[in-house]
Amino acid sequence: MNLPIRPRRNRRTAAIRALVRETVLSPGDFVQPLFVQEGTQNDAIASMPGVTRWCEKDVVAEVLTLHAVGVPAVVLFPKTDDSLKTSDAAECYNPDGLIPRVIRAIKAACPEMCVITDIALDPYNADGHDGLVEKRADGSLEIVNDATVEILCQQALCHAEAGADIVSPSDMMDGRVAALRASLDAAGYTDVSILSYSAKYASAYYGPFRGALDSAPKAGDKKTYQMDYANAREAVREIMLDEAEGADMVMVKPAGAYLDIIASVRQHTTLPVAAYQVSGEYLMIESAAAAGWLDRKAVILESLTAIKRAGADIILTYYAKEVAQWLRV
Ligand code: PBG
Repeated sequence: MNLPIRPRRNRRTAAIRALVRETVLSPGDFVQPLFVQEGTQNDAIASMPGVTRWCEKDVVAEVLTLHAVGVPAVVLFPKTDDSLKTSDAAECYNPDGLIPRVIRAIKAACPEMCVITDIALDPYNADGHDGLVEKRADGSLEIVNDATVEILCQQALCHAEAGADIVSPSDMMDGRVAALRASLDAAGYTDVSILSYSAKYASAYYGPFRGALDSAPKAGDKKTYQMDYANAREAVREIMLDEAEGADMVMVKPAGAYLDIIASVRQHTTLPVAAYQVSGEYLMIESAAAAGWLDRKAVILESLTAIKRAGADIILTYYAKEVAQWLRV
């Protein structure tokens, strides 16, 4: 054939492919989610094989390992004892609670590690919702917006006081970013950043996570606050609002089934964009690999590269430590 243009020339050798590669993962892209619990023992998480729920002492050692392999940040999720769960979720701003203690322990051992905390009520709420729940006259449930935001502000102040670098509201209440910024600033925490879960969809992919924390809603679902997965323009609206309210970084969640949303958000903001490869995405890879149906390492790297290629600057993934180790050798 007389073919002056042959795209395959750019794929001919590994060296040429390296030169023309558009998207390259690095350890600095990742945030490791860490589950923590009371006591002195670590537990395997039944709903998330391969993931550990750490006690306070051992999570610090895990953070030192993450730091050593180049992972710059962790995000903390607590399993709250049932005895501490109430309908007003007051444990979420207890200065001696599990999360503030863990933040202080991590910061004492590894001050360079960026500590992100989740701002939402579900691990502390007897109802398992991200906000306060009121029962309407007809028996249906209302997740109350404005009163929830006030508690979220107390939660964020408690985490900031303990030394969190970034607070990350995952609750999807309206107006919470502006309220958090105002509360943090008024208390002098002008350096504490807000990474907003701006476009967080009501997703079945969160199922295993709720098992890890025993935090599933006792009744109802999260569809009156988390977004309808059929909607794309609405994500841009949420991102623009959070940017105007003072978010430092925005997030799309889940990631793998929402690459179109990541790409669209990337075009509508100059802020850093994060994406969360959630528990269900992790488990789909783990279960297929365990059955011998997929090449585990190859699929993990492909899934994460796709999320970055779509436009994510920051990736929250249960694979952060392992991938950082692969990338360093
Ligand atoms: C809680 C929260 C959830 C996740 C992160 N923060 C669950 C939910 O909204 O129900 C999900 C993370 C995952 O599935 O890996 N607000």
